[in-house]
Amino acid sequence: MDKFVINGNKSLYGEVDISGAKNAAVAILPAALLNKGTCTIENIPDVKDINYILDVIGRLGAKVERLSRNSVRIDASGDIATVADFEVLNHMRASYYIVGALLGRFGNAEVSMPGGCNFGERPVDLHKKGFTALGADVSVSGIFKAKTTLPLKGANIYLDTVSVGATINIMIAAVLAEGTTIIENVAKEPHIVDVANFLNAMGANVKGAGTDVIRIKGVKELNKNINYALIPDQIEAGTFMVAAAAAGGNVLIKNVIPKHMEAISAKLEEMNITVQEFSDSIRIISDGTVGKANLKTLPYPGFPTDMQPIAVALLTVAKGTSIVTEGVWENRFQYVDELRRMGAHITVNGRMAVIEGVDKLTGAVVNATDLRAGAALVVAGLMAEGKTVIRNIKYIDRGYEHFAEKLRSIGADIQRDSDPSN
Ligand code: EPZ
Repeated sequence: MDKFVINGNKSLYGEVDISGAKNAAVAILPAALLNKGTCTIENIPDVKDINYILDVIGRLGAKVERLSRNSVRIDASGDIATVADFEVLNHMRASYYIVGALLGRFGNAEVSMPGGCNFGERPVDLHKKGFTALGADVSVSGIFKAKTTLPLKGANIYLDTVSVGATINIMIAAVLAEGTTIIENVAKEPHIVDVANFLNAMGANVKGAGTDVIRIKGVKELNKNINYALIPDQIEAGTFMVAAAAAGGNVLIKNVIPKHMEAISAKLEEMNITVQEFSDSIRIISDGTVGKANLKTLPYPGFPTDMQPIAVALLTVAKGTSIVTEGVWENRFQYVDELRRMGAHITVNGRMAVIEGVDKLTGAVVNATDLRAGAALVVAGLMAEGKTVIRNIKYIDRGYEHFAEKLRSIGADIQRDSDPSN
């Protein structure tokens, strides 16, 4: 397995381009299975999770043609299998979107799914509730099974918890249902709107994405040849913003939608970091001095949970004590042990972390425990004194396109090496 080796304490200068949104792509690529026409999808990030999904879609029988590193054409007009029990699915939570697409179009789906993840339980009860309301028989136990005699029937569905995955999955399944589906208390993340726009481009009738209520008028079929480009990745952009703030310097982060970054920009400004917004880019100017700040993660438009570990890494060197509360996941602070190895002072009590800022972090050998925890360790390594070795970077590869290369292009000293001990 590979590792990153970072020689820290170097300022970052220059420009970096943000890739397409991974968490939009993991839903949009399976949703292309609904279409009898071809979908040409651009701005897909070249990351492991996307390659897994494309592999699965291809094995189900869709024609998947890689047009370039960041674009793909999917043609699901031929025979498509509805049982997916491939080994590759054991690595991916987002495989549940394949269930929504196969159920919606063929009335049957059996998709193997991993259990929990490194930050706790990942329930799918709300996905099940939605599919059941649409008329499917659903069971979940290692294999996510959903079956119905088509068509699904439109229904009113209230989500007890705001869930990105359930919102998207029910939306995908309901596109071809008979009648109208109304989903209430939905998630409003930018990628929810992106998925809805993609479905509408294929001929669906989805309204309200980005608000609390989504209305889907079922259509008989989707049969259009379309071209669609994904929105930029909010979390990758946020990661580069924080990296520049942490290391100090002056970095222009390009291909972003500043509106999607508001919660992150506001928090950085509260930490006395200069954030300049342009129409499709954001400049971060920092001398590496970070003010303390409290924050709580919440569904969009709140501060994103996926930025939480990365923000905590930055706050380890803030002037004073900060409190970070995790409002989305039960257990998303395991990585703090790794930051402590680098000299951070953090105590965790349930969903709350108290971070006493230290003058500097010191390089150490640390382990990435999940995707965003891995990114947090990279940020810590960039500002630490000396050498940091980050092991288990397979997690980081799942969601950051050419992370080391992009960081090197703005002056970071980060190398990828093989790690024979791992
Ligand atoms: C998505 O996961 C993202 N993953 C996660 O990002 C992100 O942390 C999360 O949304 C929240 O923003 C993908 O898009 C692939 P949820 P998802 O359903 O959809 C509870 C990353 O790093 N819940 O919004 O699985 C759940 O326990 C990944 O890129 C139920 O109770 O998250 C949690 O507390 C990690 N029942 C809350 O809802 C359900 O059926 C939010 O989860 C579903 C969820």
